[in-house]
Amino acid sequence: MRWSIAVVALVVAGVAAGAPLLLASRSVGKTLAVAQSGDLRAAESFNGIKNRRARSVALFEEAGKVIESPRCLNCHPAGDRPTQTDAMRPHIPWVVRGPDGFGAESGLRCATCHHSANFDPAGVPGNPEWHLAPAEMAWQGKTLGQICAQIKDPKRNGGKDMKALIDHMANDELVGWAWHPGGKRKPAPGTQKEFGGLIRAWAATGAYCPS
Ligand code: HEC
Ligand code: HEC
Repeated sequence: MRWSIAVVALVVAGVAAGAPLLLASRSVGKTLAVAQSGDLRAAESFNGIKNRRARSVALFEEAGKVIESPRCLNCHPAGDRPTQTDAMRPHIPWVVRGPDGFGAESGLRCATCHHSANFDPAGVPGNPEWHLAPAEMAWQGKTLGQICAQIKDPKRNGGKDMKALIDHMANDELVGWAWHPGGKRKPAPGTQKEFGGLIRAWAATGAYCPS
């Protein structure tokens, strides 16, 4: 514990060299965050859309406000490195996914710095399962329609059927971190319960994807 806090301190000191850049990206992040604010609509509020397919697509688009938030995207990057902050800049220090998502075998492992809970004095997010999504679950750089198709595909979603997928979105604690991210991070919109409700209603209306 002590040792890893020291590592964090070292890292923070190292990062200070790039402080002006960091501050610049922080303030860009804030502007973005304001633009993205707004809560999540409840699943029932889409009942007025009579066409089932159109309702399904609208439900997924609403859920997309969560899926495309920096809190989710930072762990579903296109390359081997996570991204950080609302501006989604590459993770400092340099860390990679590694064979199991927890970091390079002989390099920096995620748990060296990310512990079982957020550590606010150093602004380090935490969760017992903190690790990077596998490459086939990359979301950054994709359209919401592409992410939707990929999420439904058991070959690319970790072998999940629709029931498991709904459960993952609605109840998984690592997903749930996005609503209590600690530090100055902007939480994902709405609540995990509302998000789970949207995904459930999307599945019940045929799980159609935006084009
Ligand atoms: C040497 C320490 C260290 C290691 C090792 C480390 N991280 Fe981090 N990580 C940090 C710090 C510090 C932050 C907070 C940076 C900030 O918000 O300005 C952070 C933030 C993040 C974020 C951003 C969360 C958000 O939405 O803002 C993600 C994602 C992340 N780390 C993933 C990982 C993964 C995955 C690993 C392992 C492969 C890992 N980190 C290894 C120190 C580390
Ligand atoms: C700390 C990193 C981290 C964060 C933050 C994170 N995920 Fe993930 N996600 C993962 C990992 C690791 C997996 C693969 C493990 C698994 O299948 O259980 C994954 C898998 C998934 C899957 C499985 C299917 C697929 O196609 O990707 C879904 C759905 C998902 N995450 C949704 C989300 C949502 C929604 C958020 C934000 C509210 C989120 N995740 C935030 C790490 C993260």
